[in-house]
Amino acid sequence: MSLQNFLSRLDQLQSDAESAFSGASNSESLEEARVVFLGAKNGQFKDVQKMLGGIEPTDKRAAGMRLNEVKNAINEAFNAAKEALEGGGGSQVDPTFDPSLPGTRPTLGHIHPITQTIDHLTEIMGRMGFEVAEGPEVEDPWHNFVALNIPEDHPARDPLDNFYLATAGVAGGDPLAATGEGEALLRSQTSTVQIRVMQSCQPPIRVISLGRVYRPDAPDATHFPMFHQMEGLLVDRHVTMANLKTVLRVFANNYLGDDVEIRFRPSFFPFTEPSVEVDFLWNGTWIEFGGAGMVDPNVFEAVGYDPEKVRGFAFGLGVERLCMRRHGITDIRDLYSGDLRFLQQF
Ligand code: PHE
Repeated sequence: MSLQNFLSRLDQLQSDAESAFSGASNSESLEEARVVFLGAKNGQFKDVQKMLGGIEPTDKRAAGMRLNEVKNAINEAFNAAKEALEGGGGSQVDPTFDPSLPGTRPTLGHIHPITQTIDHLTEIMGRMGFEVAEGPEVEDPWHNFVALNIPEDHPARDPLDNFYLATAGVAGGDPLAATGEGEALLRSQTSTVQIRVMQSCQPPIRVISLGRVYRPDAPDATHFPMFHQMEGLLVDRHVTMANLKTVLRVFANNYLGDDVEIRFRPSFFPFTEPSVEVDFLWNGTWIEFGGAGMVDPNVFEAVGYDPEKVRGFAFGLGVERLCMRRHGITDIRDLYSGDLRFLQQF
C-alpha cells in the first residue's frame, strides 16, 4: 500500500470518527460509535493499524507518526463527546449566553440614616465613658410614669397623648391585663430605661439608651408618631449641672461641629429638678433637640437609692432632630417614606 493511500485512509477515518462521536445524542449511541471506530477487535482504527505492515520500510516512520496523531485525535473527540453528554454542561449552555458581557450587579442595601446616626452618637458618647443600655418598647405605667414622678392625674398620662395597647384595640389585648400593673403602652420616652438601669445596678452609673418612642402626633415636617431618643443618665456622688452642660456641649460640638451654637433654657420635667431644654441654632432659628436636668430625689427614692448620698443628671435628645440638622434634612417624613432616592444619599 502506498503511503499516499494510507494517509488519506487515516484522514477519512479521523473525520468519520469525529462526526460520529459529536453526533451521538446519548451515551448508548456514543458507545456504539466507539465500538465501530475504536473497538479492540474489529474497530476501524485497528483495521487501518494493520495496514501499517504493508507500507514500504522507508515510509514506515512517517506513516507511524501520522497513525499516532489520528489515534490521539479520535480518542480526544470521544472523550469530549462523552463529557458533553455526562456533564450536562457543554451542550446545555444557553447559546445566547455571552460570558464576555458585563454582569448585572446585585442591588446592595445599606444602613438606614437613623441607624447610622445611632451608631455615631453611641461612638461619641462611648468616648465619654457612657455604656449602652436597652429597655422594652412595650412598657408598664410604673416605668413610663410612676417611677419618673409622673402622678396618676398628670396630663402626660392622657390616653390621647399615649398609645395604650388596650385603647388601641391591639390584637391579643393588653399583655398586662391580668398582672395588676396597669395598662401597657408603647413607651412615650426612653426615660423608662433610666429606671430599669437604676433598679438593676448600683451607682456610679454612666449609660445612654437609644431607641424608639411613640406619641400619637399627626405627622408633619417635624413630627412623626414614632421617633428615636437618646437617653443619658449619670449617677455618682458629686454631680452638678455644670457636668451636665459640659457633656451636652462636648457632645453637640462633636456631632454637629465646633461652630454649632446651643443654649439651655429653664424648663420643667417631673423627673428632673432643675430642668432645662436644649436648643441648637439652625438657619437663624433656635430648635429644641432635647430635655435634661438633675435627677429628682423622688426618682432616686422610687428605685431605692438614697437621695442624700447620690446625685445625677439625665437627658433625652431627639435623634431625628440631630440627624436632620447634620444632614440638612428638612422633613422628618423623608426618613420613613422608604423612598430609595432619598435613602441612597446616605
Ligand atoms: N423624657 C423627656 C422627653 O421625652 C426628656 C428628658 C429626659 C428630660 C431626661 C429630662 C431628663 O421629653
